[in-house]
Amino acid sequence: MRIPVQTKQNNLSNYEEMAANFDWKEVESVFTWSKTGKVNEAYEAIDRHVHEGKGDQLALLYSDANREERYTYRQMMEKSNQFGSVLRRIGITKGDRVFIFLPRTPEFYFSFLGIVKIGAIAGPLFEAFMEDAVRDRLDNSEAIALVTNKELLKRVQTDQLPHLKHIILVDGPDEEREGYYNFQEEMDKSPTTLDIEWMDREDPMLIHYTSGSTGKPKGVIHVHNAMIQHYQTGKWVLDLQEGDTYWCTADPGWVTGTSYGIFAPWLNGVTNVVRGGRFSPDDWYQTISKNKVTVWYSAPTSFRMLMAAGDELVSKYDLSSVRHILSVGEPLNPEVVRWGLKVYQKRIHDNWWMTETGGILIANYPQMEIKPGSMGKPFPGIQAAILDDEGNELPPYQMGNLAIKTPWPSMMRSIWKNPEKYREYFSFTGWYISGDTAYRDEDGYFWFQGRIDDVINTSGERVGPFEVESKLVEHPAVAEAGVIGKPDPVRGQIIKAFIALRDGYKPSDELKEEIRLFVRHGLAAHAAPREIEFKDKLPKTRSGKIMRRVLKAWELGLPTGDLSTMED
Ligand code: WT7
Repeated sequence: MRIPVQTKQNNLSNYEEMAANFDWKEVESVFTWSKTGKVNEAYEAIDRHVHEGKGDQLALLYSDANREERYTYRQMMEKSNQFGSVLRRIGITKGDRVFIFLPRTPEFYFSFLGIVKIGAIAGPLFEAFMEDAVRDRLDNSEAIALVTNKELLKRVQTDQLPHLKHIILVDGPDEEREGYYNFQEEMDKSPTTLDIEWMDREDPMLIHYTSGSTGKPKGVIHVHNAMIQHYQTGKWVLDLQEGDTYWCTADPGWVTGTSYGIFAPWLNGVTNVVRGGRFSPDDWYQTISKNKVTVWYSAPTSFRMLMAAGDELVSKYDLSSVRHILSVGEPLNPEVVRWGLKVYQKRIHDNWWMTETGGILIANYPQMEIKPGSMGKPFPGIQAAILDDEGNELPPYQMGNLAIKTPWPSMMRSIWKNPEKYREYFSFTGWYISGDTAYRDEDGYFWFQGRIDDVINTSGERVGPFEVESKLVEHPAVAEAGVIGKPDPVRGQIIKAFIALRDGYKPSDELKEEIRLFVRHGLAAHAAPREIEFKDKLPKTRSGKIMRRVLKAWELGLPTGDLSTMED
């Protein structure tokens, strides 16, 4: 099945022409640094528009259950300048790690931009993280300052974080305390102008933690140069145009929420909608109709939940403002694409990328036929290929490693304090190995097949089995644990844990629930296993590694394959 082009949405010609005539260098001329040689992505995203006479244009439309606020580009510039001054006064300088642990609120965005403006490295934390997840990230990055609120501060083990010197509270502190600051008071003391820290293109700007199949989460470092890709993919994939009102539903604790919830829309000068609070179908449709959203970027899990909420609900809202819909994070089922055509009368455009890639690499463009189930074609200037395990390119329809020719503008530049992990991605000279498997068809469309490693994708959130297993074995009843992703119609995958109990503990439903809550309260709700199965023994290699592959085969009723490395 092919879904034809609906409307030629931007003034670019077709994909083939775009790809053939593309040069990243041309994009650079948009930005100030093409004249000065120095750069700052927050300046280009916000201040540049003010200097170009668009200061009164709306930049942020914020709402949640209690607040409704709007900010122009000039106001965003001033607020972020003030926050930059706050940080400078405290003594933060270029290269320092400053983390934000806040719900999606305007303060998050002022802080984020302020951090970037003074050349520090911004570390956004997902609001749902619990103690261990927060500590691991602040500890590994040696964060020196944190912006948070009193409620979330309870999850920060400050006594275990010797590097963390400054805590800025949006609603506190209640009494004077060394190293603690009140956000608003500090802002009020600060000028609305700021000497921006001019950076080299390759200077670090952002750290996002993400999971692999082994070890703790790794700190992926992105640099200011990423703006070239944020800007151009915003233009050609999100199809952002003058006058657009854009809504990216992702939280800024994840990379989609920064690359496409902050940078791409603002670099392109559109109005950015941020909706706080939790997902509900009514609330989401209302957000679209009330704000007259024109471009909507979301995720398969959300579309599947909206689909489950029914067609009738859609007809209750005026969604006619919507021109362009996109999806990322996990496979987008053809069924969802067909449903979108029916109820929204719009194509849902799938695209593919990862935390490490910093920006969209493969996409369905407005100007392209969609083949439901395919991620689309490489972005102009991006060369994608399918490689075998020796690094040879495979012909169409053969499944293999999805790889990208290095470099590209928004590629990660390092893994924080872990050069070995970084090198693992580049084991074939000249290629980045994504860890995903895919094939390409004869028309050059890419089709996602799965992960090579054991990384779990649950509701679009990437979870490392090792992190969950490590938490599980901290529970007094758990001797050993193996964690896998189990296919699920709504969430893509759910987390399933196989557990061997310590002597003296008996399997029971109460114990399952207790263990589940233990992970939920230690790591995060999305990392807690939805299913637990007790086993007398877990399959292990002779060197003692849990064989997740065997657990998976058990679960799916598939053959277990080669067991020669398994202990007796
Ligand atoms: C992994 C990356 C990109 C921002 C959100 C996720 C999976 C991503 C797709 C897609 C099938 C997809 C891959 C990838 N993934 N997009 N369109 N179709 N799978 O970023 O948390 O770093 O996860 O998500 O497996 O490697 P992330």
